[in-house]
Amino acid sequence: MANAHVTVHTEAGIDRIEPELHGHFAEHLGRCIYDGIYTDDSVEAEGFREDVVDLLEDLEMPVLRWPGGCFADDYQWEDGVGPVEERPRRRNLFWGQGREMVPEESNRFGTDEFLGLCERLGTDPYLAVNVGSGDPQEATDWVEYCNYDGDTELADRRRENGHEDPYGVRYWGIGNENWGCGGNMGPEQYAGEYRQFATYIGSMDGQLLDDGLELIGCGFSNHEWNRRFMEDMVDGIWLSDLQMDHLTLHHYYGRTMSILDGDDDDYDQFLAGALALDDHVERIAGTIEATASTENVGVIVDEWGAWHTEADPATGLEQPGTVLDALSAAAVLDIFNDHADVMTMSNIAQTVNVLQCLVETQGDDAFARPTYRVYDLYAPHKGNEAVTTSIDTPTREVDDGELPLVGASASVDDDGEVYVTATNLDTRAAHTVEFTVEDTTADDVEASVLFEGQDADLVVDADNAEEFTADDLDVSVDGDGTVTAELEPGTVAGIAVE
Ligand code: AHR
Repeated sequence: MANAHVTVHTEAGIDRIEPELHGHFAEHLGRCIYDGIYTDDSVEAEGFREDVVDLLEDLEMPVLRWPGGCFADDYQWEDGVGPVEERPRRRNLFWGQGREMVPEESNRFGTDEFLGLCERLGTDPYLAVNVGSGDPQEATDWVEYCNYDGDTELADRRRENGHEDPYGVRYWGIGNENWGCGGNMGPEQYAGEYRQFATYIGSMDGQLLDDGLELIGCGFSNHEWNRRFMEDMVDGIWLSDLQMDHLTLHHYYGRTMSILDGDDDDYDQFLAGALALDDHVERIAGTIEATASTENVGVIVDEWGAWHTEADPATGLEQPGTVLDALSAAAVLDIFNDHADVMTMSNIAQTVNVLQCLVETQGDDAFARPTYRVYDLYAPHKGNEAVTTSIDTPTREVDDGELPLVGASASVDDDGEVYVTATNLDTRAAHTVEFTVEDTTADDVEASVLFEGQDADLVVDADNAEEFTADDLDVSVDGDGTVTAELEPGTVAGIAVE
């Protein structure tokens, strides 16, 4: 007997699920770049870690944000181009203190290495310019270096550095966390800075990229700050349009919890923290709608994920990769699908070795974490039309409300095939879920499941990494569009229905 019910309203379309909702983020922090994406930070470095690049290639990442994070707030891009032996060594202002591993930044990995990686991966780059300690000229020069095809010193410098054609970088973030490490700015101050940077970067729009640059404002999870920022933006614009295509926020959860010492109650609390993104997305979209329009300014969550007490700056914010974290990622991707009408991108933090990374390196080994498997399972949603679901689920009380134990989202592809993803967020008990997929007989169903029989706090390593791949999920199909499945504790399912 089912105790949860998911109805998929196949005719109630939300919007296209932009592939960029499955985007990523890499920062010069700990072992994300050096000993992660790149072999090491020396002049003699071999280059990319091919084992890591292979794993990233298989992920089909739509977009990758770089170089930070807080690192971007003091990054001088010219340090990282040209002959490697001439690149200056700098302190890593935000992520250098107290760490023995990489206390300084060698600039071995810079713009051309990053953009070369994106070309290899077929990934759109998203560069965050330095608003905190930088100026609009420096940022504008960076855009010119990357994107200009004419006969200027900066375009020639790119050619001398090995890239004849412009890179065509579309996404440009105007700062990072400017309410914090990006300058501790008030909303009105950042609005003024934003307008100034956007004036110069935006004036090159069209000259540099046929389809136009997309400029990204940095919002906050404090929605009063966002309201004041957007109101000032709108009031302060006299001669141009808003020059903002997206507005971001960041959301980390689990920061007071140890992933290894936590218990089921902590897990409930942690998962409820992940689900809080639903409200944040709605609130920032509401602010955009009240001041501009979500038709013109999309919502990006360009840093998000699990951040546990194990993630110490002294270790480069490394923390174990667990089933529980992966479960939270699935729940968040379901939220993003439900907000496909306002969301244009998301970037989980961070790609390799740091926080809720998808790929981890241990010595000569590189392997996929459980969160990587979630991205694989959710990949069929990319580019589909998200459709509405109604969910009837048992709940459990948590500090600030209730945790819905079963979650889901759904989408439909161009051929009418429906793809449903579902989570059992209950780490203690199985739930039998009945899926009613409207307007289909559901005679052709393929289902798979992640994490069956695995404890929530099971940690991935080089030896067990392959044990986290998807298994077939047993379902019963009754011929009238109803599919029933038992979801074991802490599992994620993907169900394709024709
Ligand atoms: O991802 C780690 C840090 O978290 C980023 O540098 C910063 O933007 C955020 O506070």
